[in-house]
Amino acid sequence: MDGNGRWATRRYLPRVAGHKRGVDALRACVRQCGERGIKVLTVFAFSSENWSRPPEEVSGLMELLAAALGREVPQLNAEGVQIHFVGDRAPFSEKVRAGLVQAEAATAANQRLVFNICFNYGGRWDIAQAAARLAAQGVAITEQGLQGAMALGHVPDPDLVIRTGGEQRLSNFLLWQAAYSELYFSDKLWPEFDAAALDAALADYAARERRFGKTSEQVGSPAAKRA
Ligand code: FPP
Repeated sequence: MDGNGRWATRRYLPRVAGHKRGVDALRACVRQCGERGIKVLTVFAFSSENWSRPPEEVSGLMELLAAALGREVPQLNAEGVQIHFVGDRAPFSEKVRAGLVQAEAATAANQRLVFNICFNYGGRWDIAQAAARLAAQGVAITEQGLQGAMALGHVPDPDLVIRTGGEQRLSNFLLWQAAYSELYFSDKLWPEFDAAALDAALADYAARERRFGKTSEQVGSPAAKRA
């Protein structure tokens, strides 16, 4: 969800105002995904590297998280959204940690949309923690074992990864899980990423041929049949 800071700066607003608009865009995006039958949405809300931002921005993001927990969870619950927080919770206060557990427990039975919020998350952190878990259990470190031990082990790998804000890199997001994901880069800043922008990304995805290392003929693509 890149581009909140630029959205705010262009309007002579503090960066945190951009993150607030980012929460609005996120609320709408969750609803749009549910309406479109998407079963899993995973968002990058705070990276392991974001701690090095100015202190007022870090504390603003923490306050947004705490406020969103109180305000948004009942509505998401009513809409059938199952919430997961993915990332290292160790640096958070006891109160915030309890809030995360409570939100997950309250929505655990919901089936409409699994909503993963990556907060204090990094792809490298996830791979390392999964390996450490397996090692602590004394089991072999295999691809299958790592897949299950990942913090996102409860969902399949993503079909589509969208990055907004014009940058074309993963920035430590889903390094393991995005091995065969389709990547889509939008120039829109996150607060402007609306339903039309989501639909454009989905249309682009629908036109892709996913081969997973096979040939076009093997996956039976229409283009290969015509050739
Ligand atoms: C990147 O944009 C965005 C973030 C670091 C934060 C994303 C967070 C939200 C949308 C709020 C979600 C919050 C909760 C509580 C779930 P940037 O600030 O790097 O933008 P820039 O590249 O324009 O500076």
